[in-house]
Amino acid sequence: QATLPKGYTIRPLASDDYERGFLDVLSVLTVIGNITKAQFLERFFYLKAHNHEYFTLVIVSPQNRIVGAGTIFVERKFIRNTGLVGHIEDIAVDKNQQGKKLGLRVIQALKYIGAKTGCYKVILDCSEKNVPFYEKCGFQRKEVEMAWYC
Ligand code: ACO
Repeated sequence: QATLPKGYTIRPLASDDYERGFLDVLSVLTVIGNITKAQFLERFFYLKAHNHEYFTLVIVSPQNRIVGAGTIFVERKFIRNTGLVGHIEDIAVDKNQQGKKLGLRVIQALKYIGAKTGCYKVILDCSEKNVPFYEKCGFQRKEVEMAWYC
């Protein structure tokens, strides 16, 4: 179990994390767009109303800024005797904070949520470059990601 550096905490996303730079952290992943506070809150409260299947965690720095984030979505299937599958999405660590095991800590917490909610497996898609990171987090390479853009 990775421990956080002194003064850092991990917790669920909060409605005022917009002001703490949550979206800035996500910008290491892709284009974010000009999301207003109202848009953020609309999505936040949707996820809150579905908090049995969406879990977004953040890491907060000693300066009270969001420096890491990640989500697990719990999919309800028919197969595997109506089994559950956890999908890890949008793992992001602020550029200046990478290499402090914050990413590893987020993944460990999301895997724990997946196991506790009864998922029989937890899966994710990533770039070739991130394969060593996810292997260190205990994942194995499996099959191929396909995408179709609408
Ligand atoms: N190549 C090789 N090893 C790596 C890499 C890499 N690219 N990244 C991390 N590691 C290793 C670290 O060296 C460390 O190893 P150690 O335990 O032997 O010291 C271990 O993995 C854990 O690393 P962390 O310090 O926890 O990694 P970090 O906090 O920097 O987070 C992350 C990694 C999330 C990939 C971060 O670099 C990042 O935000 N990158 C940009 C966004 C991104 O690519 N996110 C993932 C998208 S895929 C998805 O969301 C499902």
